[in-house]
Order: sequence, then structure tokens, then C-alpha cells
Amino acid sequence: LNQLLFKDPNQPPVVFHWFPFLGSTVVYGMEPYKFFNKCQEQYGDVFTFVLLGRKMTVTLGPKGNEFVFNGKHADLCAEEAYTHLTTPVFGTGVVYDCPNHMLMEQKKFMKFGLTTETFKAYVPLIKDEIVKYFETSPFFDGQSGKVPLSTAIPQLTLFTASRSLQGREVREALTTTHADLFHDLDMGFTPVNFMFPWLPLPHNAKRDKAQRAMAKLYLDIIARRKSGEESKKEIDMIWNLMNRSYKSGESLSDLHVAHCMIALLMAGQHTSMATTTWTLLHLAAKPEIQKALYDEQVKVFGKDLAPLTYEKLSELQMVNNTIKEILRIHPPLHSIMRKVKSPLHVPDTNYIIPATHFVMAAPGVSAMDEKYFKNAKEFDPFRWVGHEADEDNAEKFDFGFGLVSKGTASPYLPFGAGRHRCIGEQFANVQLGTIISTFVREFEFSLPPGQKDVPLVDYNSMVALATAPAMIHWKRRAGSNH
Ligand code: HEM
Repeated sequence: LNQLLFKDPNQPPVVFHWFPFLGSTVVYGMEPYKFFNKCQEQYGDVFTFVLLGRKMTVTLGPKGNEFVFNGKHADLCAEEAYTHLTTPVFGTGVVYDCPNHMLMEQKKFMKFGLTTETFKAYVPLIKDEIVKYFETSPFFDGQSGKVPLSTAIPQLTLFTASRSLQGREVREALTTTHADLFHDLDMGFTPVNFMFPWLPLPHNAKRDKAQRAMAKLYLDIIARRKSGEESKKEIDMIWNLMNRSYKSGESLSDLHVAHCMIALLMAGQHTSMATTTWTLLHLAAKPEIQKALYDEQVKVFGKDLAPLTYEKLSELQMVNNTIKEILRIHPPLHSIMRKVKSPLHVPDTNYIIPATHFVMAAPGVSAMDEKYFKNAKEFDPFRWVGHEADEDNAEKFDFGFGLVSKGTASPYLPFGAGRHRCIGEQFANVQLGTIISTFVREFEFSLPPGQKDVPLVDYNSMVALATAPAMIHWKRRAGSNH
């Protein structure tokens, strides 16, 4: 009754709920998009819901995306929204466990491994890792078989992301045991952790153990390098971070180097792992798209399929459109959050969001809205044909439906925008492009007999994963030679 009678016209409507602290936590946590869509229907693009006692104001649509992504740091703060979730996973002193200007500098340091020159070197390294995985994994033994993608793809992308982004020495130190550790760390990114980040719950204990083991892997390498024990010092990301300093003159401590490496590996791996899994599932469901991808390989690389290169990857429009389409339907991050620092007016409304609230953007909602994408639920890479321009390049990006989006007020922002925008987009494209190309060169695959559609989304982790086991059946292509 309180909620119905005492509505403040200057504040966004509050989503109706029975229990004060719990609010809409359960419905949001189980199926965030269903919850957003229902609220949008009932309350419009701007509404507030209660998430474990926190008041979250959601702003949907292209304008809502812009409002959150383009907010000034003085008004909207990411570290206060994320730190309790990310610090136990990455470790202290980096990313959201330090002042924002330090994160901005850390992002610049990390770009050392994200240049055209490094991408050129990564493509053959990533391809070799995939081929090695096909040769050694029991899931790919013989001429045909089945593979639970929920198990295989986290292992595969851990190897590809670490061999490229993290360097030879880290990759050599990693075993499949680390894939399990890494999984424990990943499971630290769950809604339960959101609720009780520091409680001694069993999976928090596992998470902390995994965090220490991963940090030790990096600290051991750093110690060996510092003691001069390592004869051949490698020019890699660890070397880069060990030799960088902030504008203040302060350099990164060994522990902070280790924590930056974990953050980078996590960012590069778990988003790519989710995206790779969804891609293979949708391709398994649509053999005609697999055929189009294979035909493109033959067209660009010749019928003997010359080795993949970075330069050629950008010519693979069908591959790039497939990645774009997967990220439209399955953006790994469904909720982008900030803490409000001073009362904020929402443009084009009468609403002022109080400084006690958090704001939330969900660009995945507009990316699946019929207003912007015809047959929005349909996986159709061809919808991007003729619209390959970078989504930041507003004028060229009109989706073909007469709707031109300007800058960050776009319905399609899988990599975010503004000061917290992703630095890994190009790397993600390089890694995914190499994985997709190698898979379609080597295999034809399908969903298990009788299964009509891709599995449902599992929202138990902070990235939108496919429900395990996410099985596909494969058979080797006649005459495949990697
Ligand atoms: C930030 C998505 C891959 C590193 C972000 C954000 C999104 C995103 C939406 C913005 C978060 C926010 O505004 O709160 C993705 C997707 C990926 C991907 C969809 C792959 C499919 C990567 C990779 C790396 C990476 C490969 C590392 C090489 C980062 C970093 C940030 C970021 C450092 C900045 C965080 C900040 O400034 O607060 N990513 N990402 N991401 N991403 Fe990615």
C-alpha cells in the first residue's frame, strides 16, 4: 500500500515488491531480460527496483544506454558499484579497488598487448592452440563425436587467451588444473557473491583459494625474473607491467602486476568463452550458416585453405557478421552498473535520481527490440550485410530500418561506451574469428538429434552462459587439414 500511495512524481516508479530488502532480487536474478521487458511494458524505460536493499534505477533504450555509459565520473561511479564483486576475484589494488584515474592508466598499460603488431603475432598462436586442443582433447578423438561445450570451450579459450595475451611463460605454466581453478574463480562472479561477498560460503572459499593460486603463478614468474634466474627474459605483458609506472611516478607492486594479469585473463577469457559457446551452438542449429562460413574460407583462402592471418581476418565479412550477431543476441554482460554520486536528472523526463541509488543499463534489451532489429529473436548474421561499419561510427550505422543512432545513444553496445568502454573488442574479434574459422575448416556440427533449439541461458554466473552441457555433435570435414 505504501508503494502504491506514496509515489513521488519526481522519482522513477518503483517496481512493486512484497519484501523490502529482497525486493525484485529473485525475479531479476533468474531471468533479467524477462524482468526488464515486463517492467518496461508496465513502467516505461525508466524504473527503480530493489536488489538486496540497493535501489537500482534502470534506464532502457538507446537514450538510457547513453545516460549510463556517458555519465560523468563525478556523477556516476563504477568502482563503488562493482568492487565488492570484482576485488575478491581479481585481487586488491587494481581495476575497481583503486581510484578511477589509476584504472584509466592500467587500461593504457594493458593496451601494450592489444596493438595491430601483437594481433598479427596472435593469430597463428591462437590457431596452433586450437589445433593442439583438437589433437589432445578426448572430446575430439576420431572422425566424429560429441562435445560438451560447457566443459571444452572454457579450457580451449583459457589456452588461446593466455598464449596470446599473457605470453608463452604463463601458457606453459597453465594446465587443465588451472582451467578448473579458473572455473572456481569465475563462479566467484555469481549473484550469491553479490549478496554475500565476504561470507565463508563454500564457493567463496573455493574462489579465494583459486585467486591465491592464480596470483602465485604470476608472482613466481615475477620472482624468477627479478632474481635473474630466467635466462631469456620475455617481452610480454608481465614484462610490460613490471616496467610501467603511473603518472605519479609510482610503479606497480609485484602483487598488483599479478592482479592486473588475473583481471586481464578473466576479462579476455570468460566473455570470449561465453561468446564462442553461443556461436558454435547457433551454427550447429543452422547448417546453412556453417556452409556460408566455409564457402567464405574457400573464397578468401583458396580451396587448399591457406593459413589464417590477421590481415585476412578482416576480409571475412561473414565471420565478422556472425560475431556481431551473436553479441546482439547474447551480450555476455547483461547489467552495467554505476553508483549515483549526486542527484541526477534523467533527460526527457521529470525524474531526479537520488544520490542513494545505483543506475543500471542493459543494452541487451534494445539489441533485442523489434523497434531496431526486425525478427529480433532470430539469429541471422545476414542482417548486418551492408552495415559492417563500426557501431561507434554513428552516421553509417543505421541498421537498415531507417533508425540512425548517434554516438552512444545506440541500441547496440555490447562493448559499452564512454570512459569504461571495453579495450578488448579487437582482441575478442581476433580470437573469435580465429576460433570460428578453425572450427568450420575442420568440422561440420549439429545439435544432438531431437534437440530443436540452442539451450536456455544460465544466469547463475555474471556472464550469460549456455546451460550445461551445451552438447554438439561433430564430424570431421572430408580432407580437413586444419
Ligand atoms: C569493459 C564487454 C572482451 C577488457 C567492458 C564493458 C563491456 C565489455 C560491456 C563495459 C563495462 C562497464 O561499462 O561497466 C566485453 C565483451 C567482450 C569483452 C562483450 C568479448 C566478447 C574483453 C577482452 C578484454 C576486456 C578480451 C581484455 C583484453 C575490458 C576492460 C574493460 C572492459 C579492461 C574496462 C573496465 C572499466 O573501465 O571499467 N567490456 N568485453 N574485455 N573490458 Fe571487455
